[in-house]
Amino acid sequence: MGSFIIEGRNSLEGIVNIGGSKNAALPILASTVIVGREYILENIPEIEDVKDMFEILTTMGCSVQYENGIALIDTRGLNTHIVPEKIVRKIRSSIILMGAVLQRTGRVEVAYPGGCEIGLRPIDLHLKGLKKLGVEINEKNGLLVGKVKEAVSCEIHLDYPSVGATENIMLFAVGNPGRTIIYNPAREPEIVDLQNFLNVCGFSVSGAGTGVIIIEGKKLEEKDTVEYKIISDRIEAGTYLSAAASMKSKIYIKNIEKSHFKSITSLYEDAGCEIRETHGTIVISNDRRIKAVEKVTTQPYPGFPTDMQAQVMASMAVADGISIIEETVFDSRFKHVPELQKMGANITTIGRVAVVEGVEKLSSAEVEAKDLRGGAALVIAAMGADGISKINNIHHIKRGYEKFIYKLQNIGVIITET
Ligand code: UD1
Repeated sequence: MGSFIIEGRNSLEGIVNIGGSKNAALPILASTVIVGREYILENIPEIEDVKDMFEILTTMGCSVQYENGIALIDTRGLNTHIVPEKIVRKIRSSIILMGAVLQRTGRVEVAYPGGCEIGLRPIDLHLKGLKKLGVEINEKNGLLVGKVKEAVSCEIHLDYPSVGATENIMLFAVGNPGRTIIYNPAREPEIVDLQNFLNVCGFSVSGAGTGVIIIEGKKLEEKDTVEYKIISDRIEAGTYLSAAASMKSKIYIKNIEKSHFKSITSLYEDAGCEIRETHGTIVISNDRRIKAVEKVTTQPYPGFPTDMQAQVMASMAVADGISIIEETVFDSRFKHVPELQKMGANITTIGRVAVVEGVEKLSSAEVEAKDLRGGAALVIAAMGADGISKINNIHHIKRGYEKFIYKLQNIGVIITET
């Protein structure tokens, strides 16, 4: 499974180049199957989740070439409606293939998805939306079997702005006749990127990023190669900000759209870091121990991202004072807490609320990454701890961080992989 060995230190300095967004790349890769043609996609991150998505596409008859962040994908050869079960169980976002494959073939067979174990992750909103758009869905031996009865357009009110459900509905509705309106959709920048990609393909989607998405459905005749560049990863950037905030540092974070992660930068500004932006580069400087933040509550965008909760907790574990961190998006996303406690963090949890009393310094320990972002939090904790730490189960971390060791070494972290 692999481990990271990290030697704690007192300061960080250097440049980090942020890669393409995992959560934008995955649905965009899924949506390439809607229309069989060639796609050139830039800024695709080199991470395990993307490799798994490539494997799903190639197993289904598509071809994929990938080098230096550029993927050349040809989906003309798609020859099945069955999404390979073994890989789907590894990555949750493979469920978005449902809408895309249904649109292309009229049928789909897909296993319940995998991904991080961060509590109940139902897909009822995905299924409700697809059913409203004319799909019949049954469960057979743990598989979801879908068939288009009569593709229609409609109005869908999401009870919760689910990212995945919004994407699945978009990917099916774009090819249906008529106008589909999604009320209360997810507003994440990755949804806007998916809309932009679909429009470059020739579909007609508007409103992403607001409270209403409007899709004018159409069948596409276009066969030209689609070229598109994916947005950069705000959570990867936020993770390096958390690392910088946890000790003395001056880090230049390049290739990032600051407006996508204002809630993260303002949190660290409140904590006492200096954050400046010059020509697409964010500079974070921190010359003393940060102050605890009164309260952070995770929420759907533009609220504070749940994908940053663990990393913020790691930095607050060494802040001056007491921070309250509340997780409202997922019901079981504190699995990093016992591991941080092994490193001397003073954290108490009551349900979905964590009370973090900062200590001067954490101590080294052998800990387990339980999920992707929780694993990144342990890396942040270890890089400032006294002594040498070992983080096991790093396959979780590799699902979402591109060239992690290389990028960390560039800012002065002493890290190796065994
Ligand atoms: C996506 C992101 C993930 C991020 C999450 C929330 C990708 C690949 N993953 O995950 O990194 O943490 O958004 O920002 O983009 N829910 C239901 N029913 C549904 C769907 C969701 O109850 O049908 C609930 C979930 O259990 C969860 C909450 O809604 O409690 C948020 O889920 P959702 O927004 O769908 O997250 P994902 O798309 O799975």
